[in-house]
Amino acid sequence: MISNKPMDIPCSLQERKILEKIALAAKDLHLPAYLIGGFVRDKILGRRTKDMDVVCVGDGIALAHKVAESLGEKVPVSFFKTYGTAQVKWNELEIEFVGARKESYRQESRNPEVTEGTLQDDQNRRDFTINAMAISLREEDYGSLLDPFNGMEDLEAKIIRTPLEPSQTFSDDPLRMMRAIRFASQLQFTIVQEAFTAIQENAERIRIISQERITDEFNKIMLSPKPSVGLDLLYKSGLMKIILPQMVDLVGVEMLEGKGHKDNFYHTLQVVDNISQNTRDLWLRWAALLHDIAKPATKKFEPGHGWTFHGHDALGGKMVTRIFSKFKLPMGDKMRLVKKLVELHLRPISLTKENITDSAIRRLLFDAGDDIDGLMLLCEADITSKNKVKVKRYLENFELVRARMKEVEESDRIRNWQPPITGEMIMEIFGLSPGRVVGDLKTAIREAILDGEIPNTYEAAYAFMLEKAKSFNLTPVK
Ligand code: CTP
Repeated sequence: MISNKPMDIPCSLQERKILEKIALAAKDLHLPAYLIGGFVRDKILGRRTKDMDVVCVGDGIALAHKVAESLGEKVPVSFFKTYGTAQVKWNELEIEFVGARKESYRQESRNPEVTEGTLQDDQNRRDFTINAMAISLREEDYGSLLDPFNGMEDLEAKIIRTPLEPSQTFSDDPLRMMRAIRFASQLQFTIVQEAFTAIQENAERIRIISQERITDEFNKIMLSPKPSVGLDLLYKSGLMKIILPQMVDLVGVEMLEGKGHKDNFYHTLQVVDNISQNTRDLWLRWAALLHDIAKPATKKFEPGHGWTFHGHDALGGKMVTRIFSKFKLPMGDKMRLVKKLVELHLRPISLTKENITDSAIRRLLFDAGDDIDGLMLLCEADITSKNKVKVKRYLENFELVRARMKEVEESDRIRNWQPPITGEMIMEIFGLSPGRVVGDLKTAIREAILDGEIPNTYEAAYAFMLEKAKSFNLTPVK
């Protein structure tokens, strides 16, 4: 029994059980093995984690097979011979095995030349001191922390620092620039100045990284507790300009005739933070990020009046499609949701004015459908005035709009509503084939109901349709 020795990191019983198996398998194969990387970091921080990385001085794939064998007959091992890595899945855990290595990189690629190495070599090639800590699984010092770069101190001081010269670390693998910023945002840590300067100097090298990996890190920033931390670092490092330049176009305030507008970049960051306090939904956070994205393209100065951004909602919707495509984000429902929220983000605020009719409320409910709650979250997040009295008034007005929406929804059930006469019915009644007239008639009926001109019943809609059809010279065929 090895695992009854105390460990320098807190582990659950189940984790200790698996670590014992790994230690015994490594002992059998005479391979020194160590837990390393994110698992060690997260355990010390008390974060939940399901990924274990094990490094051994020797053949990692052989160790993985031996461990899988000791876990039971049916535990599969997936391995990648070229990289010398193997993965074992056991219950919830994903355990990654790799032989300790030394890496050297070439300028034009993030694929290193790899040679076998010692534990120290392997720790040297890691991205950050907090990710380079190891826990021994060897019998002689089982459970002890091997921390040559004082990662523990950096964890306590909440600092992100590279084990080696930072420019080397980032140039070797430029994805690490995104990772540094992601950890800073996720863990609320500070990147040491020297490392941040190296990111600024190496920012251009992000271009050799695939979009999928960039997007993956970007989304982790978006899902962090306060995404503005990471988004602002992306901007200040020069990475944002390369990966999402439309965001950088939002930066700054222009003054004319003594009139300025708000800095739309920092306003946007505030909106993302605000919405993040109320939802963990990545797509609602993306909607917040992109809600004003078309402001620079629609900006105009109207003498005597000030700055306007007419149409930034509609154009913003179009830009969402382009940005999602570039970021290789899902182009289906998720994209449609973000697009719709960007397009509709000005509507609820316009309903806070006085004398709003039921039909205006009904129309918004119809346009937003089931996404109305997400839209309201976005609009509330969009209130970033520093004036507390103003914020309070806006929020109260939104509560009134919510109450009105509830009333209208209860009486009309408009959210997922379909007009009582469909396109198929129109074609059958007038003997038409699909075409523009059918669409026009359908829209006219829908609009008349939404405007409250006619009641939401089949009979009323039918009568209205017959009347309307006359202007198209149509008469029913039966
Ligand atoms: N690593 C690295 N450089 C990278 C990616 C990873 O040096 N570009 C090293 C780090 O030591 C890291 C370990 O490989 O801790 C495991 O990487 P990964 O599982 O991607 O990240 P974690 O640190 O575990 O963090 P997370 O799970 O949050 O991504």
